[in-house]
Amino acid sequence: MALKITVIGTGYLGATHAAAMAELGFEVLGLDVVPEKIEMLQRGEVPMYEPGLEELLRKHVAGIEGSSGRLRFTMDFAEVAAFGDVHFVCVNTPQKHGEYACDMSYVDSAFAQLAPHLTRPALVVGKSTVPVGSADRLARELAANAPAGAEAELAWNPEFLREGFAVKDTLHPDRIVVGVRSAHAEKLLREVYAGPIGEGSPFVVTDFPTSELVKTAANSFLATKISFINAMAEVCEAAGGDVVKLAEALGYDDRIGKKFLRAGIGFGGGCLPKDIRAFMARAGELGADQALTFLREIDSINMRRRGQMVEMAREALGGGSFLGKRVAVLGATFKPDSDDVRDSPALNVAGQIHLQGGQVTVYDPKGMENAARLFPTLAYAESAVEAVRGADVVLHLTEWREFRELDAQALGEVASNRLILDGRNALDPEIWRAAGWTYRAMGRPGA
Ligand code: UDX
Repeated sequence: MALKITVIGTGYLGATHAAAMAELGFEVLGLDVVPEKIEMLQRGEVPMYEPGLEELLRKHVAGIEGSSGRLRFTMDFAEVAAFGDVHFVCVNTPQKHGEYACDMSYVDSAFAQLAPHLTRPALVVGKSTVPVGSADRLARELAANAPAGAEAELAWNPEFLREGFAVKDTLHPDRIVVGVRSAHAEKLLREVYAGPIGEGSPFVVTDFPTSELVKTAANSFLATKISFINAMAEVCEAAGGDVVKLAEALGYDDRIGKKFLRAGIGFGGGCLPKDIRAFMARAGELGADQALTFLREIDSINMRRRGQMVEMAREALGGGSFLGKRVAVLGATFKPDSDDVRDSPALNVAGQIHLQGGQVTVYDPKGMENAARLFPTLAYAESAVEAVRGADVVLHLTEWREFRELDAQALGEVASNRLILDGRNALDPEIWRAAGWTYRAMGRPGA
């Protein structure tokens, strides 16, 4: 009989995983503790902007016309325990307030609520990004609290999806990593991923700590690549080089690769910043903090870029105060194709200039609602043209395709000053200069 799957937590990770499991043909029950989220999902609506996810959900959510009916949602842990053979825990692990460490309270609460209902054999699979050592602790707690005892087993299966590509990354992962303690757990996970998801994806079987570490190591490496190129951008700014050309030339070396070498205002979002901090905190607890001191530097290079963007804007405006200056900000989300503004470098730069007296007007294709909730004192415009109207300087801070396709000529007619600063090195300088703009970009003083 086919396995029945449950997914606990329906954020980016859980909602996408649940829909993907239904797409593979499994009966799936998703759980969340937030009633509004469950109501939306039951209507086939996605609580965030994620390309392709709503279509995939609507294809499977029970009660939607023409759907497979294989995907249902609940708020009841007892129902989840009774239904599932394999339970995926996909709740978030944010940064603790005022600390580097990661907040495990959602994971702990999910396990505490599920375990007492596990009366029959089940595999609980952690997908959340957790400090190394968590799986070992959770396995012990699970065995102690589940009536099924040792028949309620744990496995760890980190997820590497990127926001904006969540559906593609889930259906076609680069690799599947599973941390297991028994052949039975491995067999069940091989069964789950036997369909098209597993085809062509290497299946890496390992122990608990290694599986937890793969995720934090991968994100640390990616953060390091970005901060490395941003450090080179700083040197280019001092020495008169061009970081875009430098990155291109570096990238032709296969060992380095061309991806994740886009210099600019740095990384943000709900993952990279908090994951490297939680990794440092955990290494400290383990007595291995020296091994990760470089991550502190990666973090500070990254955070420094935001302030440097503010200074670049100040200098471009003549070097004095921002008082009385009108600043148009294009982009609010931490990256394009997402409405996520968590730890967004773009909003941070906008906020700093606003606090220093600048009149900032922000426009973002999808992130306006979330941005306005987080920074209600900033002004928001309905379009790029409206944001730029009357501006003394335009800052391009999130590289949406819409901004690459802007009509530089038409914008020039509404701006009070044709001055654009590219914080993402994503616009074509030729196009803007041809339309009479002064174009400057981070890490390219001479370009
Ligand atoms: C990241 C990892 O890529 C993913 O594998 C993991 O599962 C979750 O964390 P995500 O946070 O969605 O995914 O975004 P990502 O595409 O990695 O970008 C992170 C940040 O880095 C963004 O702010 C982006 O603008 C920035 N970035 C990325 C750069 O500044 N330069 C680059 O070259 C690439």
